[in-house]
Amino acid sequence: MQSKIEKLKSGMLADLKTAKSEQAIKDVEVKYFGKKGLFGDIMKSLKDLSVEEKQTVGKSANMAKKELEEAVMKRYDEIEHEKLSAIAEEEWIDVTVPGKKPQIGHRHLISRFIDDLEQIFAKMGFELAEGPEVETEEYNFDHLNIPETHPARDMQDTFWIKNLEKYVLRTHTSPVQVHYMQKNDPPIRVIAPGKTFRKDSDATHSPMFHQLEGLMVDTDVSMANLKAVMTHALQQIFEDSTIKTRFRVSYFPFVEPGMEVDCTCPICQGNGKLPDGVPCRLCKQCGWLEIAGAGMVHPHVLKNAGYDPEKYTGFAFGMGLERMVMIKYRINHMRLFFENDLRFIEQF
Ligand code: DAH
Repeated sequence: MQSKIEKLKSGMLADLKTAKSEQAIKDVEVKYFGKKGLFGDIMKSLKDLSVEEKQTVGKSANMAKKELEEAVMKRYDEIEHEKLSAIAEEEWIDVTVPGKKPQIGHRHLISRFIDDLEQIFAKMGFELAEGPEVETEEYNFDHLNIPETHPARDMQDTFWIKNLEKYVLRTHTSPVQVHYMQKNDPPIRVIAPGKTFRKDSDATHSPMFHQLEGLMVDTDVSMANLKAVMTHALQQIFEDSTIKTRFRVSYFPFVEPGMEVDCTCPICQGNGKLPDGVPCRLCKQCGWLEIAGAGMVHPHVLKNAGYDPEKYTGFAFGMGLERMVMIKYRINHMRLFFENDLRFIEQF
Protein backbone atom coordinates (compact mmCIF):
# COMPACT_ATOMS: atom_id res chain seq x y z
CA MET A 1 0.00 0.00 0.00
CA GLN A 2 2.80 2.35 0.98
CA SER A 3 4.58 1.72 -2.27
CA LYS A 4 1.32 2.40 -4.15
CA ILE A 5 1.17 5.78 -2.49
CA GLU A 6 4.82 6.48 -3.35
CA LYS A 7 4.22 5.47 -6.95
CA LEU A 8 1.17 7.65 -7.21
CA LYS A 9 3.11 10.52 -5.72
CA SER A 10 6.03 10.27 -8.08
CA GLY A 11 3.60 9.76 -11.00
CA MET A 12 1.72 12.94 -10.17
CA LEU A 13 4.90 14.96 -9.63
CA ALA A 14 6.18 13.81 -13.03
CA ASP A 15 2.85 14.73 -14.65
CA LEU A 16 2.97 18.16 -13.01
CA LYS A 17 6.44 18.75 -14.28
CA THR A 18 5.32 18.26 -17.87
CA ALA A 19 2.12 20.29 -17.46
CA LYS A 20 2.78 23.45 -19.44
CA SER A 21 -0.43 25.39 -18.88
CA GLU A 22 -3.03 26.05 -16.24
CA GLN A 23 -5.40 23.76 -18.05
CA ALA A 24 -2.81 20.98 -18.11
CA ILE A 25 -2.35 21.32 -14.33
CA LYS A 26 -6.11 21.17 -13.89
CA ASP A 27 -6.19 17.96 -15.93
CA VAL A 28 -3.51 16.48 -13.65
CA GLU A 29 -5.56 17.47 -10.59
CA VAL A 30 -8.61 15.76 -12.02
CA LYS A 31 -6.61 12.64 -12.91
CA TYR A 32 -5.40 12.22 -9.30
CA PHE A 33 -7.79 14.09 -7.03
CA GLY A 34 -10.99 13.94 -9.08
CA LYS A 35 -14.07 11.93 -8.19
CA LYS A 36 -12.79 8.98 -10.17
CA GLY A 37 -9.17 9.94 -9.55
CA LEU A 38 -6.29 7.65 -8.65
CA PHE A 39 -6.06 9.06 -5.15
CA GLY A 40 -9.69 8.20 -4.55
CA ASP A 41 -8.93 4.62 -5.49
CA ILE A 42 -6.38 4.41 -2.71
CA MET A 43 -8.74 5.93 -0.19
CA LYS A 44 -11.42 3.48 -1.23
CA SER A 45 -9.11 0.52 -0.70
CA LEU A 46 -8.41 1.67 2.86
CA LYS A 47 -11.62 0.08 4.02
CA ASP A 48 -10.18 -3.38 3.47
CA LEU A 49 -7.31 -2.73 5.89
CA SER A 50 -7.02 -3.41 9.58
CA VAL A 51 -7.60 -0.54 11.98
CA GLU A 52 -3.90 -0.14 12.63
CA GLU A 53 -2.96 -0.22 9.04
CA LYS A 54 -5.76 2.20 8.24
CA GLN A 55 -4.19 4.64 10.66
CA THR A 56 -0.65 4.49 9.29
CA VAL A 57 -1.60 4.25 5.66
CA GLY A 58 -4.30 6.87 6.01
CA LYS A 59 -1.82 9.19 7.65
CA SER A 60 0.82 8.82 4.97
CA ALA A 61 -1.88 9.11 2.26
CA ASN A 62 -3.00 12.40 3.77
CA MET A 63 0.56 13.64 4.01
CA ALA A 64 1.16 12.68 0.42
CA LYS A 65 -2.00 14.50 -0.61
CA LYS A 66 -0.94 17.61 1.24
CA GLU A 67 2.47 17.51 -0.32
CA LEU A 68 0.99 17.03 -3.76
CA GLU A 69 -1.46 19.88 -3.27
CA GLU A 70 1.47 22.12 -2.45
CA ALA A 71 3.26 20.89 -5.55
CA VAL A 72 0.18 21.78 -7.60
CA MET A 73 0.12 25.33 -6.16
CA LYS A 74 3.81 25.68 -6.83
CA ARG A 75 3.35 24.54 -10.42
CA TYR A 76 0.55 27.12 -10.90
CA ASP A 77 2.93 29.80 -9.62
CA GLU A 78 5.67 28.63 -11.96
CA ILE A 79 3.36 28.72 -14.99
CA GLU A 80 2.13 32.20 -14.03
CA HIS A 81 5.69 33.34 -13.67
CA GLU A 82 6.68 31.88 -17.04
CA LYS A 83 3.71 33.64 -18.64
CA LEU A 84 4.69 36.97 -17.14
CA SER A 85 8.31 36.67 -18.10
CA ALA A 86 7.31 35.80 -21.66
CA ILE A 87 5.24 38.99 -21.80
CA ALA A 88 8.04 40.99 -20.23
CA GLU A 89 10.45 39.61 -22.79
CA GLU A 90 8.17 40.40 -25.66
CA GLU A 91 7.16 43.86 -24.52
CA TRP A 92 10.52 44.88 -23.29
CA ILE A 93 11.55 48.36 -24.29
CA ASP A 94 14.79 50.14 -23.91
CA VAL A 95 13.76 53.56 -22.70
CA THR A 96 17.23 54.90 -23.38
CA VAL A 97 17.05 54.32 -27.15
CA PRO A 98 16.66 57.69 -28.92
CA GLY A 99 13.09 58.19 -30.24
CA LYS A 100 12.12 57.85 -33.87
CA LYS A 101 11.67 61.26 -35.43
CA PRO A 102 8.24 61.56 -37.02
CA GLN A 103 8.46 62.57 -40.66
CA ILE A 104 7.23 66.12 -40.71
CA GLY A 105 6.89 67.67 -44.14
CA HIS A 106 7.31 71.29 -45.04
CA ARG A 107 5.93 73.65 -47.61
CA HIS A 108 7.07 73.08 -51.16
CA LEU A 109 9.77 75.36 -52.50
CA ILE A 110 7.33 76.99 -54.91
CA SER A 111 4.80 77.65 -52.13
CA ARG A 112 7.53 79.15 -49.95
CA PHE A 113 8.62 81.34 -52.83
CA ILE A 114 5.04 82.55 -53.22
CA ASP A 115 4.97 83.34 -49.48
CA ASP A 116 8.12 85.40 -49.94
CA LEU A 117 6.62 87.26 -52.89
CA GLU A 118 3.50 88.04 -50.90
CA GLN A 119 5.68 89.55 -48.18
CA ILE A 120 7.69 91.61 -50.64
CA PHE A 121 4.61 93.01 -52.35
CA ALA A 122 2.68 93.45 -49.08
CA LYS A 123 5.40 95.87 -47.98
CA MET A 124 4.61 97.93 -51.06
CA GLY A 125 0.92 97.93 -50.18
CA PHE A 126 -0.25 95.13 -52.49
CA GLU A 127 -3.15 93.00 -51.35
CA LEU A 128 -3.68 89.39 -52.24
CA ALA A 129 -6.36 88.27 -54.71
CA GLU A 130 -7.50 84.88 -55.90
CA GLY A 131 -9.44 83.61 -58.85
CA PRO A 132 -10.69 80.25 -60.08
CA GLU A 133 -8.34 77.80 -61.79
CA VAL A 134 -11.20 76.60 -63.95
CA GLU A 135 -12.01 79.81 -65.72
CA THR A 136 -14.58 80.89 -68.28
CA GLU A 137 -13.45 81.69 -71.77
CA GLU A 138 -14.90 85.13 -71.14
CA TYR A 139 -12.59 85.96 -68.24
CA ASN A 140 -9.56 84.10 -69.53
CA PHE A 141 -9.77 85.78 -72.95
CA ASP A 142 -12.66 88.15 -73.81
CA HIS A 143 -12.49 90.53 -70.87
CA LEU A 144 -8.76 90.75 -71.41
CA ASN A 145 -9.26 92.05 -74.91
CA ILE A 146 -7.92 88.85 -76.45
CA PRO A 147 -9.63 88.56 -79.85
CA GLU A 148 -11.53 85.50 -80.99
CA THR A 149 -8.80 84.73 -83.49
CA HIS A 150 -5.87 84.98 -81.07
CA PRO A 151 -3.61 81.92 -81.26
CA ALA A 152 -3.64 81.55 -77.46
CA ARG A 153 -7.23 80.27 -77.74
CA ASP A 154 -6.03 77.44 -79.90
CA MET A 155 -6.76 73.87 -78.87
CA GLN A 156 -3.01 73.36 -79.13
CA ASP A 157 -2.19 75.65 -76.22
CA THR A 158 -5.20 75.64 -73.96
CA PHE A 159 -6.81 72.91 -71.90
CA TRP A 160 -10.51 73.11 -72.63
CA ILE A 161 -12.88 71.37 -70.27
CA LYS A 162 -14.61 68.38 -71.81
CA ASN A 163 -18.43 68.56 -71.78
CA LEU A 164 -18.29 72.02 -70.26
CA GLU A 165 -18.43 74.41 -73.12
CA LYS A 166 -16.63 77.73 -72.75
CA TYR A 167 -14.59 76.66 -69.74
CA VAL A 168 -10.80 76.40 -69.72
CA LEU A 169 -8.04 75.76 -67.21
CA ARG A 170 -6.80 79.32 -66.90
CA THR A 171 -3.79 79.86 -69.11
CA HIS A 172 -2.57 82.81 -67.06
CA THR A 173 -3.38 84.70 -63.85
CA SER A 174 -4.47 87.81 -65.77
CA PRO A 175 -8.23 87.02 -65.46
CA VAL A 176 -7.91 87.67 -61.72
CA GLN A 177 -7.32 91.34 -62.68
CA VAL A 178 -10.85 91.54 -64.04
CA HIS A 179 -12.47 89.62 -61.19
CA TYR A 180 -10.78 91.89 -58.68
CA MET A 181 -11.60 95.14 -60.46
CA GLN A 182 -15.25 94.13 -60.80
CA LYS A 183 -15.49 93.68 -57.05
CA ASN A 184 -13.30 96.57 -55.88
CA ASP A 185 -13.14 100.27 -56.62
CA PRO A 186 -9.90 102.09 -57.35
CA PRO A 187 -7.36 102.87 -56.06
CA ILE A 188 -6.18 99.28 -56.07
CA ARG A 189 -2.89 97.50 -55.60
CA VAL A 190 -3.13 93.76 -55.82
CA ILE A 191 -1.16 90.63 -56.62
CA ALA A 192 -2.58 87.26 -57.63
CA PRO A 193 -0.22 84.30 -57.46
CA GLY A 194 -1.46 80.90 -58.52
CA LYS A 195 -1.50 77.87 -60.77
CA THR A 196 -1.84 78.20 -64.51
CA PHE A 197 -2.10 75.57 -67.24
CA ARG A 198 -0.90 75.17 -70.80
CA LYS A 199 -0.25 72.27 -73.13
CA ASP A 200 3.49 72.56 -72.83
CA SER A 201 6.00 70.12 -71.42
CA ASP A 202 9.80 70.10 -71.68
CA ALA A 203 12.88 71.06 -69.66
CA THR A 204 11.62 74.61 -69.19
CA HIS A 205 7.84 74.10 -69.43
CA SER A 206 5.39 72.13 -67.32
CA PRO A 207 1.67 71.78 -68.21
CA MET A 208 0.94 73.20 -64.75
CA PHE A 209 3.02 76.13 -63.66
CA HIS A 210 2.72 79.20 -61.48
CA GLN A 211 2.41 82.86 -62.26
CA LEU A 212 2.15 85.99 -60.23
CA GLU A 213 -0.03 88.75 -61.58
CA GLY A 214 0.28 92.33 -60.39
CA LEU A 215 -2.13 95.21 -60.88
CA MET A 216 -2.17 98.79 -59.74
CA VAL A 217 -4.89 101.24 -60.79
CA ASP A 218 -5.40 104.81 -59.67
CA THR A 219 -5.98 108.24 -61.16
CA ASP A 220 -2.37 108.79 -62.17
CA VAL A 221 -0.46 105.53 -62.28
CA SER A 222 2.40 105.63 -64.76
CA MET A 223 5.09 103.42 -66.22
CA ALA A 224 7.50 105.02 -63.77
CA ASN A 225 5.52 103.37 -60.97
CA LEU A 226 5.70 100.06 -62.81
CA LYS A 227 9.45 100.39 -63.18
CA ALA A 228 9.92 101.26 -59.51
CA VAL A 229 7.75 98.37 -58.32
CA MET A 230 9.39 95.85 -60.65
CA THR A 231 12.92 96.95 -59.78
CA HIS A 232 12.33 96.87 -56.05
CA ALA A 233 10.53 93.52 -56.21
CA LEU A 234 13.29 91.88 -58.27
CA GLN A 235 16.01 93.22 -55.97
CA GLN A 236 14.15 91.73 -53.04
CA ILE A 237 13.44 88.43 -54.79
CA PHE A 238 17.06 87.83 -55.76
CA GLU A 239 18.36 89.51 -52.61
CA ASP A 240 20.62 91.75 -54.65
CA SER A 241 20.24 95.53 -54.49
CA THR A 242 22.35 96.06 -57.61
CA ILE A 243 19.72 94.52 -59.90
CA LYS A 244 18.45 96.84 -62.60
CA THR A 245 15.47 96.47 -64.91
CA ARG A 246 14.75 97.45 -68.48
CA PHE A 247 11.62 97.46 -70.61
CA ARG A 248 11.48 96.13 -74.15
CA VAL A 249 8.49 96.83 -76.28
CA SER A 250 6.20 93.85 -76.77
CA TYR A 251 2.58 93.02 -77.41
CA PHE A 252 -0.10 91.69 -75.09
CA PRO A 253 -3.74 92.45 -76.00
CA PHE A 254 -4.65 93.52 -72.45
CA VAL A 255 -2.05 96.28 -72.13
CA GLU A 256 -1.09 99.30 -74.18
CA PRO A 257 1.78 99.87 -74.41
CA GLY A 258 2.95 96.37 -73.65
CA MET A 259 6.46 95.34 -72.76
CA GLU A 260 8.79 92.64 -71.55
CA VAL A 261 10.55 93.36 -68.29
CA ASP A 262 14.16 92.22 -68.16
CA CYS A 263 16.44 92.33 -65.15
CA THR A 264 20.20 92.16 -64.94
CA CYS A 265 21.30 88.57 -64.64
CA PRO A 266 21.63 87.72 -60.94
CA ILE A 267 24.24 85.08 -61.71
CA CYS A 268 26.78 87.28 -63.54
CA GLN A 269 25.49 90.63 -62.19
CA GLY A 270 24.80 91.71 -65.76
CA ASN A 271 28.38 91.25 -66.91
CA GLY A 272 27.72 88.31 -69.22
CA LYS A 273 30.58 86.48 -67.61
CA LEU A 274 31.45 85.24 -64.16
CA PRO A 275 34.25 86.85 -62.08
CA ASP A 276 36.71 84.21 -63.31
CA GLY A 277 35.92 85.06 -66.92
CA VAL A 278 33.73 82.04 -67.64
CA PRO A 279 30.84 83.01 -69.95
CA CYS A 280 27.48 83.15 -68.13
CA ARG A 281 25.28 80.37 -69.44
CA LEU A 282 22.06 81.54 -67.83
CA CYS A 283 21.80 84.83 -69.69
CA LYS A 284 23.78 83.52 -72.64
CA GLN A 285 26.33 86.26 -72.00
CA CYS A 286 23.94 89.11 -72.68
CA GLY A 287 23.67 90.13 -69.02
CA TRP A 288 19.86 90.37 -69.07
CA LEU A 289 17.04 87.94 -68.25
CA GLU A 290 13.49 88.13 -69.43
CA ILE A 291 11.37 88.06 -66.30
CA ALA A 292 7.85 89.32 -66.88
CA GLY A 293 5.26 90.63 -69.29
CA ALA A 294 3.83 93.98 -68.36
CA GLY A 295 2.22 97.14 -69.58
CA MET A 296 -0.34 99.85 -68.98
CA VAL A 297 -3.79 98.32 -68.57
CA HIS A 298 -5.68 98.58 -71.85
CA PRO A 299 -8.68 100.94 -71.73
CA HIS A 300 -10.92 98.09 -72.95
CA VAL A 301 -9.91 95.97 -69.96
CA LEU A 302 -10.62 98.84 -67.57
CA LYS A 303 -14.00 99.30 -69.23
CA ASN A 304 -14.79 95.57 -69.10
CA ALA A 305 -14.15 95.73 -65.38
CA GLY A 306 -16.44 98.72 -64.93
CA TYR A 307 -13.74 101.38 -64.51
CA ASP A 308 -13.75 104.68 -66.39
CA PRO A 309 -10.63 104.64 -68.62
CA GLU A 310 -10.77 108.42 -68.92
CA LYS A 311 -10.35 108.75 -65.20
CA TYR A 312 -8.11 105.82 -64.29
CA THR A 313 -4.85 104.39 -65.47
CA GLY A 314 -2.99 101.36 -64.25
CA PHE A 315 -0.16 99.00 -64.84
CA ALA A 316 -0.20 95.23 -64.85
CA PHE A 317 2.46 92.59 -64.95
CA GLY A 318 2.61 88.84 -65.00
CA MET A 319 5.59 86.64 -64.27
CA GLY A 320 6.29 82.95 -64.39
CA LEU A 321 7.51 81.74 -61.01
CA GLU A 322 9.24 78.44 -61.77
CA ARG A 323 11.92 80.09 -63.84
CA MET A 324 12.69 82.60 -61.10
CA VAL A 325 12.93 79.84 -58.50
CA MET A 326 15.21 77.89 -60.85
CA ILE A 327 17.48 80.90 -61.19
CA LYS A 328 17.48 81.74 -57.50
CA TYR A 329 18.16 78.20 -56.29
CA ARG A 330 20.22 77.04 -59.30
CA ILE A 331 17.80 74.30 -60.33
CA ASN A 332 18.34 72.97 -63.80
CA HIS A 333 15.14 71.12 -64.66
CA MET A 334 11.52 72.17 -64.25
CA ARG A 335 10.50 68.52 -63.83
CA LEU A 336 12.19 68.41 -60.41
CA PHE A 337 9.54 70.69 -58.91
CA PHE A 338 6.66 68.33 -59.53
CA GLU A 339 7.92 64.76 -59.58
CA ASN A 340 7.89 64.69 -55.78
CA ASP A 341 11.28 63.13 -55.25
CA LEU A 342 11.96 63.76 -51.56
CA ARG A 343 15.71 63.86 -52.17
CA PHE A 344 15.08 67.05 -54.12
CA ILE A 345 12.26 68.49 -52.05
CA GLU A 346 14.04 68.08 -48.73
CA GLN A 347 16.93 70.21 -49.88
CA PHE A 348 14.85 73.35 -49.55
N1 DAH B 1 -0.62 86.94 -69.05
C1 DAH B 1 0.63 87.00 -69.79
C2 DAH B 1 1.13 85.62 -70.09
O1 DAH B 1 0.73 84.70 -69.47
C3 DAH B 1 1.69 87.74 -68.99
C4 DAH B 1 1.37 89.17 -68.85
C5 DAH B 1 1.83 90.05 -69.78
C6 DAH B 1 0.62 89.63 -67.79
C7 DAH B 1 1.55 91.41 -69.71
C8 DAH B 1 0.35 90.97 -67.65
C9 DAH B 1 0.81 91.84 -68.63
O2 DAH B 1 -0.37 91.46 -66.65
O3 DAH B 1 0.56 93.21 -68.50
O4 DAH B 1 1.93 85.47 -70.96
